[in-house]
Amino acid sequence: MQQTRVLTGITTSGTPHLGNYVGAIRPAVASSLRADVEAFYFLADYHALIKVQDPARVQRSTLEIAATWLACGLAPEQVWFYRQSDVPEIAELNWLLTCVAGKGVLNRAHAYKASIDKNREAGEDDDAGISAGLFMYPVLMAADILLFNAHKVPVGRDQIQHIEMARDFAQRFNHLYGGAGNEHFVLPEAVIEEQVATLPGLDGRKMSKSYDNTIPLFCPRPELKKLIYSIVTDSLAPGQAKDADASNVFQLYQAFADAGETASMRQAFADGIAWGEAKEALFERIDAEISPLREKYESLMARPSEIETILRDGASRLRRQLAAPRLAALREAVGLRPLSQAGTVDVPVAPGKPSLPVFKQYREDDGRFYFKLMVDERVLLQSGGFDSPRDAGQHIAVLRREGYAPADPALTLGEGVVAHEVHSALAALAAEDARKAAQKAGDAR
Ligand code: TRP
Repeated sequence: MQQTRVLTGITTSGTPHLGNYVGAIRPAVASSLRADVEAFYFLADYHALIKVQDPARVQRSTLEIAATWLACGLAPEQVWFYRQSDVPEIAELNWLLTCVAGKGVLNRAHAYKASIDKNREAGEDDDAGISAGLFMYPVLMAADILLFNAHKVPVGRDQIQHIEMARDFAQRFNHLYGGAGNEHFVLPEAVIEEQVATLPGLDGRKMSKSYDNTIPLFCPRPELKKLIYSIVTDSLAPGQAKDADASNVFQLYQAFADAGETASMRQAFADGIAWGEAKEALFERIDAEISPLREKYESLMARPSEIETILRDGASRLRRQLAAPRLAALREAVGLRPLSQAGTVDVPVAPGKPSLPVFKQYREDDGRFYFKLMVDERVLLQSGGFDSPRDAGQHIAVLRREGYAPADPALTLGEGVVAHEVHSALAALAAEDARKAAQKAGDAR
């Protein structure tokens, strides 16, 4: 049977909350039990370092999250369960991907842009306090996914863009280093559990560490009750009809209840259930599901060395069976090869693919900026000097958009080149752009 590879990670920067459970852990554990799925779950502790620079917290969170997944039913002998930093191949692939990732693509990452916006609001420099780690976050995430050629990646909505970027880097890598029939990377797809992808927190916004509105998954029962009673509601009185769909109490309830229970609760809302009563039902419903898991969790937390052994064992099997051979093939593909093998290796070459023309921009000793249009080593077009790289870039843009005008005083044809060759080079570039745009549009669907 062709198994689907499903992979997901949790950043070890906090204590698991109900939102993590409903949005990630529970669906992940459920799908791990399917025979047609090969599941990968890992603790994204390299990612944690981007946000958390408190070593004790990173360690504590790693332990809590590992214990949580195990308590929630993950069977480490049936799935790949590991800690990201135990698999150095991920860090190495991160570099290979860094070298194909477009900086412009990373500039558009929501998380990075949000940090810039915050700085602007505070009147700070755009990049104040932003580490290169934050900027490179999507590349590391792509390495997590692509190293194992995962097909599906269950994530929250806020991560969809990261999966799209992983596809983009994979495509660039495949394009550069793969021939027809030799695609190195599978293009991963994000999977969102439609019904319960994001859980509201205590204040009604998405439940998230960053809003400080979470309900810890395994807090003691009395605290769970207290937190649930503190959920913000409107001030409708008992007996007044309440809009279930607009209520965070209802949304939370729905995430834990089956279809029948949900339908009765919806009716109760229409009939004007009191908020206190609705919260009581919510508390009991959640606790019924969580309390057996909480017991397992507490007993695991008391034996951290067992968890350590499970994680190490998972990582070492994974490295031996998948990560190391995969990385060896990728190193080979990019040219990190034993010199002794030079010329003897069967290197896959894209057969007969004509090279695309390129624009090369550069600066001369006279301090001015120039460009050439080249195919392989042959210069088709040579520009005169521009005052700034921007001016040169704009001239290229006009050329690409409007075509080559032989009368253009800023340009001379290369030695032995006729205008016709320049026209067809520009046409080839335009065709390649169109092909990429079409591919992108196709992928977005
Ligand atoms: N970025 C993810 C999050 O914050 C965690 C993560 C890291 C991840 N690497 C991943 C998720 C790879 C899926 C696949 O939720």
